[in-house]
Formats: sequence, structure tokens, C-alpha cells
Amino acid sequence: MKRKPFIAGNWKMHLNIADSVALVRQLREKLDDLKGVDVAVAPSFPALGPVRDALYGSSISLAAQNMFYEEQGAYTGEVSPLQLLDVGCRYVIIGHSERRNILGETNELINLKVRSALAHGLMPIICVGETLGQRERNLTFMVIDDQLRDALVKVSREDAEKITIAYEPVWAIGTGKTATPQQAQEVHKHIREKLEARFDAQLARSIRIQYGGSVKASNAAELLAMEDIDGALVGGASLKAEEFTAIVKSAVK
Ligand code: PGA
Repeated sequence: MKRKPFIAGNWKMHLNIADSVALVRQLREKLDDLKGVDVAVAPSFPALGPVRDALYGSSISLAAQNMFYEEQGAYTGEVSPLQLLDVGCRYVIIGHSERRNILGETNELINLKVRSALAHGLMPIICVGETLGQRERNLTFMVIDDQLRDALVKVSREDAEKITIAYEPVWAIGTGKTATPQQAQEVHKHIREKLEARFDAQLARSIRIQYGGSVKASNAAELLAMEDIDGALVGGASLKAEEFTAIVKSAVK
């Protein structure tokens, strides 16, 4: 049995408040009545409150793109899990490759964030993925295994029920190069096997694994048709209502 698909839009550092609200209004018109798929959008921090208001009564959930692991304190520039809950977030993206590679986030830091999110009742979308160089040197599985193992240190089975994994090959993000459905499926299957080894088969079968990296309306259906691909984490194409809607709809066909 396939899991309920989960499509999330990662708006990254795009859109002002007015454009964020306008986008979410368009999405609501097209997606609010759609059954059989979970949908979330992750606006940038300044737009979270206004988008929350615009989502009132909607089936679309609010997600944050990042968080810090402490509840409060002298952490200039950081945002805490309590603040994300306060503004209405249900999900939080953790360990996106842009945070790993541009902001220097380590596996250890990502694990602290994952545990903190879970402890506060936020559902983490944990991103893993190899660079082009790592893929070319046949290190894909090794890199994924390390990222996955470290992200899940001290995560209980009960908490693990609330996680989503996003496999995002770094070479496919924002480049227009998508992994082929077969390439993605191979890694997704591998991730599920690792989750089974770390927890158990039942849990591994229930955890959703999204694919991310240049997902668009024209390639979503073939990716989502693969056995172990349970959704998508969409960057660029999530900024266009038509594109994102088409991706979401291809998950329920
Ligand atoms: P992209 O980004 O869809 O623009 O490639 C995906 C992501 O980084 O989550």
C-alpha cells in the first residue's frame, strides 16, 4: 500500500508578503477541496503570519524553512520551535542542502534541530542528498547513510512516526536536471531499507519520502508513480500557482 502523498512548496527567499498571500489565495481556490494528498507551503519567515491568516480554514498546512533548536534566549537572528508553533507552523524543513552548504549546517546541528522540532510537536521534513561530485565518485549511498543516521540519533520510534524524509540530490536542485524516476527510486528504496534497519519494517513502510530537485508539472507524475516516492519538495515550481497545482494533482491521479 502506498502512503498518502505529501507535496510541499519551499518558497526559499522569494516573494514579499503581498505576493505570498496572493499565491496562497490562488492555491486555495484550486486545492482546498482536493482529497487524498497532504499539501504544505513554506514561505519565508516575514510572510509566515500573513500566510497563516490567508490559510485560515484551509487544508493546506504551513511549514517553516528552518528553525533553531533552543526555545528562547540570546540567539540573534534565529527562530525557535515555540515561535514557529505560535505562528501556526505544522511542519519545518530541516537540513536543506542550501543550509548545509551555504550556511555550514552540520549533521550534528541538524540532529539537534530534528529532536527539538519533534519534542515540540513540529513535524520535520529532513533533507538528505548527495552532490554531483559525490555521485560521480559512487558515494551517494554513503553520504545518504551518514546524513540519515546522524539526523536520527536519539530519535524514538514514536517520534519517528512524525518525520518526512526529503531526498534532494544537490545536483538536481534549481538546475533543471531532475534525477530520473529510476535514479530517485533507487535511493528512496535504499532510504526505506535504512529506516527499517534503524526502526522496523512497519514504521519504514509508513514514513513518507519526498523527492526534491527540479520537480515540475511535466515530470512530477512519473516520479510520483515510483514505488517509494511519496511526494515532492518543490522549490522553483512552487512559486507558480498553476505549476504547483498541477504537481499536487498529479499526486492524486
Ligand atoms: P527546486 O528546489 O525545485 O527549485 O530544484 C527544490 C528544493 O530545493 O527544495
